[in-house]
Parts: sequence; structure tokens; C-alpha cells
Amino acid sequence: MVSVLFVCLGNICRSPMAEAVFRHYVIEAGLENKIHIDSAGTGDWHIGEPPHQGTMLKLKEYGVSSEGIYARQVKKIDFDQFQWIIGMDTSNVENLHKIAQTTHSHVYPFIQFIPGTTYEGVPDPWYTGNFQETYDLVQQGCKNLLNEIVTKQGLSNK
Ligand code: 4NP
Repeated sequence: MVSVLFVCLGNICRSPMAEAVFRHYVIEAGLENKIHIDSAGTGDWHIGEPPHQGTMLKLKEYGVSSEGIYARQVKKIDFDQFQWIIGMDTSNVENLHKIAQTTHSHVYPFIQFIPGTTYEGVPDPWYTGNFQETYDLVQQGCKNLLNEIVTKQGLSNK
């Protein structure tokens, strides 16, 4: 089983959006039994809450399910349990390295999966209010991430 964890600050805007969109593509590819997907926040303010209404509305608009997604905080054990830990922006990646207490080799910046972009990270709609901008980036990155995982890990839906 391949495992992927998306991480942002609050786990209510960007990383649950990425979790939902990535799961949508994984199901479309028939790989739902081979890839485990989750999201978490480095902060603890929203533990147990569903995604932000802006994230929920954007997912609904694109026909992507957000069922069963509730905020949780990153735990040290996540570094042992997830092979792909994706930080939504540069500060999320820095925080992940701090929590892991090492430069952890399973941690990747989400923006790495959008080649040629001028963005340094996925903008936080908690501050920008622009859920469409975030959704567009999440969609592109999730598509490329799935292709990369399928290629690198040699996955097929058989
Ligand atoms: P997220 O956005 O990291 O994309 O979930 C935020 C949500 C909540 C807060 C900050 C960022 N907050 O400070 O509560």
C-alpha cells in the first residue's frame, strides 16, 4: 500500500482540498485499494472540524466528495507511516522537518508537482479568500503527483 499525507497549517482549507481531489483522481484511476490518503495540519486549532466552507463549496462545485474528512494534527508516527508527505507551502515543509526533528526524506513541497509554476507554495485561502486559485493549483499538482507515484511505485489497477 502506498500512503500519501497532505499537510498544511490548519487542515481545514488546503490539505483537505488536496486529500479530496487526490482521492477523486485515485478512484478514477481504479487505484483506491492501493493508495491510502490522509491530510493533517501542523496546528491544533481546528482538530475534529470538517473542512472550511470555502473548501467544501469548491469541492462540491467540481463534484468532488469531502465525505469523512475531519481535521487532525500531524503526529511523529506519521513520518513512519506515510511514504509521501506533501507540504502545501514552504512554511508547512519547514514545520514538518521541525516536527520530524530531521530533514525527512519523505517530505515534498506540493509545488514541486507543478513544473514551471511561478508560485512558491499553494496560497492559503484562509488569508487570501481565493479558493479558486488554490483549487486550480491543487488540481494540477494532484494530477501530476498521481502520475509520479504510479510511475515510481509501478502501480497498476489490475
Ligand atoms: P490551511 O488554512 O492551513 O490551508 O487549513 C488555515 C486555516 C486556519 C488557520 C490558518 C490557516 N488558523 O489560523 O486558524
